Amino acid sequence: MTAPLRSGEPITVPVALGTRAYDIAIGRGLLAALGARIKALRPGAKTAIVTDRNVAQHHLAACEAALKSAGIESAAIVVPPGEGSKNYATFETVCEAIVAARIERGDLVVALGGGVIGDLAGFAAASVRRGLDFVQVPTTLLAQVDSSVGGKTGINSRQGKNLVGAFHQPVLVIADTALLDTLPKREFRSGYAEVAKYGLLGDAAFFSWLEANWQDVFAGGQSSGSFAREHAIAVCCRGKAGIVARDERETGERALLNLGHTFGHAFEAGAGFSDRLLHGEAVALGTVLAFEFSARKGLIAELDAARARAHLAAVGLPTQVSQVPGGVPGVDALMDLIAQDKKVKRGKLTFILVRGIGQAFVENDVDPAELRAFLTDKLASA
Ligand SMILES: NC(=O)c1ccc[n+]([C@@H]2O[C@H](COP(=O)([O-])OP(=O)(O)OC[C@H]3O[C@@H](n4cnc5c(N)ncnc54)[C@H](O)[C@@H]3O)[C@@H](O)[C@H]2O)c1
Ligand SMILES: [Zn+2]
Repeated sequence: MTAPLRSGEPITVPVALGTRAYDIAIGRGLLAALGARIKALRPGAKTAIVTDRNVAQHHLAACEAALKSAGIESAAIVVPPGEGSKNYATFETVCEAIVAARIERGDLVVALGGGVIGDLAGFAAASVRRGLDFVQVPTTLLAQVDSSVGGKTGINSRQGKNLVGAFHQPVLVIADTALLDTLPKREFRSGYAEVAKYGLLGDAAFFSWLEANWQDVFAGGQSSGSFAREHAIAVCCRGKAGIVARDERETGERALLNLGHTFGHAFEAGAGFSDRLLHGEAVALGTVLAFEFSARKGLIAELDAARARAHLAAVGLPTQVSQVPGGVPGVDALMDLIAQDKKVKRGKLTFILVRGIGQAFVENDVDPAELRAFLTDKLASA
């Protein structure tokens, strides 16, 4: 972790990917500078803004005005909100609309929205004319700290989430922290699970800072003049940018970002990927289980697991299976879901476990019987 911010100057986090390197700019009110930044990067480019109806209602006009003020033409492509838009039909609509807007090589696609829009618009950009450049303007906390960085784009297959897609890096990410002011509180809190995850997986000092400052991150500094939100987002982006630069295609270290996600995906799937359990809520619960499982294996003290659990509970995220509305699948179903999510190699499962707060590692040798016993106890005590 680097020292917390004292001024409202935008923060730049570089993503070092050689000829595909790009910057993430973080700051309150940065959307207004989108046109100027795009003009500096791609003089003469036209743009197509892909967004969803909710985001359009709050922020499309400002985005269009920012582009227009720099003399940049834009066409708006508005899709329905929600995970359902990461499907073939909407992908087709978006690709056709980009072509119809005469966006060509040298022009830009702008993804204005949460992770759904970033993944969908990014994949459309990767596909139309065999690859158009695109800019991410993430509007959820999850998108600002996670999905807009790293170049994973795609849609869902009928057989599973994110099964059809491409690695396609943006040329610029503009994280305007003021856009999060209109985000429903539950969505913000859900995204916060990923913020805590960065501390828990690799940055103990950041986790301690979050324990002391999370309320300011939620408040966003509108009245207090604190830059806690910007600082937190920057630390997460630096963390992810570093990991992505070292392991773009997830052959090693990038897997650490999946802390809490194997358990989490099983609960999300169990809830049918519905509003019953948002992604970050599932990740919070999954992270607690990853810590508790690590404690049971003797890798960490019970106290460390309790500390992770206490922080996630303090912000209002679920930390016990009994808190999932409608309940969770039984042990057999959970084991099946976990086996589907993770490659099983020679009868062993791969999990991200911890040797302490901020010390996650990839464990390729988890015995399914041990995991089953752990989950049986967890469900029994729920
Ligand atoms: N590519 C990656 O590396 C990566 C990483 C993590 C998650 N993801 C993907 O991200 C998606 C989840 O993203 P998400 O949580 O941002 O969901 P989302 O994009 O569906 O946004 C959540 C909700 O908030 C609304 N919204 C967004 N911004 C708003 C704003 N500023 N004000 C008011 N409402 C707003 C949206 O319309 C939507 O209803 C999943 O599909 C997941 O697979 C991708
Ligand atoms: Zn996640």
